[in-house]
Parts: sequence; structure tokens; C-alpha cells
Amino acid sequence: MTILNANTASSTSVPPVGDTPQGRFKADNKRLINCSQVDVNQLMPLKYHWAWEHYLNGCANHWMPTEVGMTKDIEMWRSNKLSEGERFVIMRNLGFFATAESLVANNIVLAIFKHVTNAECRQYLLRQAFEEAVHSHTFLYVVESLGLNESEVFNMYHEVPAIAKKDQLEMELTSEILDPEFTTDSFEGTQAFLKNLIGYYLVMEGLFFYTGFVMVLSFHRRNMMTGIGEQFQYILRDETIHLNFGIDLINGIKQENPEVWTPEFQQTIIDRIKYAAELEIEYAKDCLPTGILGLNGDLFREYVQHIADRRLERIGLPPQYGSSNPFPWMSETMDLSKEKNFFETRVTEYQSSGSLSWD
Ligand SMILES: [Fe+2]
Ligand SMILES: [Fe+2]
Repeated sequence: MTILNANTASSTSVPPVGDTPQGRFKADNKRLINCSQVDVNQLMPLKYHWAWEHYLNGCANHWMPTEVGMTKDIEMWRSNKLSEGERFVIMRNLGFFATAESLVANNIVLAIFKHVTNAECRQYLLRQAFEEAVHSHTFLYVVESLGLNESEVFNMYHEVPAIAKKDQLEMELTSEILDPEFTTDSFEGTQAFLKNLIGYYLVMEGLFFYTGFVMVLSFHRRNMMTGIGEQFQYILRDETIHLNFGIDLINGIKQENPEVWTPEFQQTIIDRIKYAAELEIEYAKDCLPTGILGLNGDLFREYVQHIADRRLERIGLPPQYGSSNPFPWMSETMDLSKEKNFFETRVTEYQSSGSLSWD
């Protein structure tokens, strides 16, 4: 049997034909990173059933942005029913998400995929990468439907400081792993890899996205810009699974490499999440120079801190803020059983409610 570790797992070398001196592998020998005993091309027998479950859930939630009608949004956007402040919030969030989806997709495909040495996790990552492409497609579709300035929307990540700072933090994490010398096969390498996963799954998809979800879904709750709102509901549903997969992957790597989860490293992670929370609060204030739809910067400070605490807890770190959730309706939005009319498009035809799990 060929030995595949982090450095060779992406190679195209062909395993030798004939006797395998080590015999057929056992699921127990699979490892999330730095696997030296199991060929990464062999999906079964499964070891990490959670990865396969997330993959199946992702597939069950399949949707395309073009399935959502935009007529009412186009009418409203062209009318004088939206204030300047309301248009500003929508534009800022389109600008942030339009490129953030690409950053996540590129981090999966170019940086982390190669180093995850487990077939069932790679299966999920392939599914997630496609979903990020669907999300990028959504922003192209919205920009085209509303006739927005595409250059303005897709350049905000360079031009709007509150967005650029968040993206800078993420792009630095991708660059670190993209270094040709990078390997997870060391203490520092495993810590850097965890830092990347936490930076993307918990911070980008689990924190930075949630302010935007609240802002855009606040319109939807008032029956405004309902096409974009529905698309954001689907994205939120996908992102919830991305977040849950990321948490399982992070906790799994911690479990298999407990020596890297030192008190110092835990403090580094707490500090990074607190720094990210500050960037997110700054972003919310930038989006809401004046209060609209009952939203303001102070509410988002509480919300971001509340979410940051929840994310810290999921990876076994202590909450830092103790803030309450000023938007309890977000939990209801995520609980499909309470929203009977949630899926009004044909997505319902292949969506089984039993496959959804919102945490
Ligand atoms: Fe996404
Ligand atoms: Fe995502």
C-alpha cells in the first residue's frame, strides 16, 4: 500500500499493484491530517461519520439562485420606497459577500484540501466548494437583476476599509498555508492549520457572515427585498452546515493532536476571535451610520459578542462577553419547523425537512 501523508496526499502517484505488505486498512487508522497509513482515495470504510452526514445534508439542501424570482426586488429597487440608508446597507452587504464567498472557496481548494488526509472530509469539502460557487453565483445574479454597478460591488473588498480589514485577516491565513514550505507535519504546522480553520469556519463563516444575515433578513421580515432575503435564507442554511462541519473538523484535529492545544495557543485563538469581533462591530457601524429598520451599531455590538461566545464554546474555549442576543428572531429564522412558508419555491420538491439541522 502506498503511504500518503500531507505532502504526498495530493500527488498523482499510483499505488503499487499486488500484495500490500500492511494488508487492507482499517477505518481506525484514518487520520484527519498527517495520515500515514490509509490511502486518501479510499472513502470506505468510513471513520468520520459526521463528515458524511454533513455531505448528505448539504446535498439535500441543493438550490440555485436563479430559482428565486427577483421581480419584486427589481420593482422596489427602482421605486422610491427604499431610503438612502436602506440602500446603503444592502449595497454594503452585497459588496462584502460577493468576494467573501470567493475567499472561502479559494481557501478550501487551494489551501486546506491538500492537507486534509481523509476521504470523507474531502468529499464534504468538494460539496462545500460547490456551494460557495453557488453563493458567488447568487451575487452575480443579484447584481445583474438589479442593474447594479458590478465594479462597485466586487471592488468593495479593496475600497471599503471595514470590509478590507476583515478580508485582509482571512487572506493572510490562506497565504500562510499556501507557502510551498508549509506542512501540517509539525507542532507549529498543525497549530497554523487550526488557526486557518478557526479563521475561516468560525470567524469568516461563523461570525462575519452573521451580521450580514441579520441586516438583509431584517428587510425580508418587513416584506422588503424578499428575493434577496430568500437567497440569504438559503445561504444561511448552507453556512450553518459549513460551520458545523468546521467545528467537527477542528475538534477532531484537536482530539488527534492534543499536544498542540496548549494554554498559550488557546489564548492566541481567544485573542484572535476577540479582534475579529471588534472588526465586525466596526463593519456593522460602517453599514449603519444612521439607524434603519430598528437596527443600530449598539445592537450589533451585543449580537457579535453573543455569537463570538457561542463559537468559542463550540471549540471548548470560555465565553468572553456574556452578551445577550438582541435578535432572537434569527434562531426562529433558522428553525424551519417554525417557518411553514419558508420554502416557497420549487426547492421544497427536493427538500426534506428531516434532513435539516440548525444549531
Ligand atoms: Fe458561502
Ligand atoms: Fe460557507
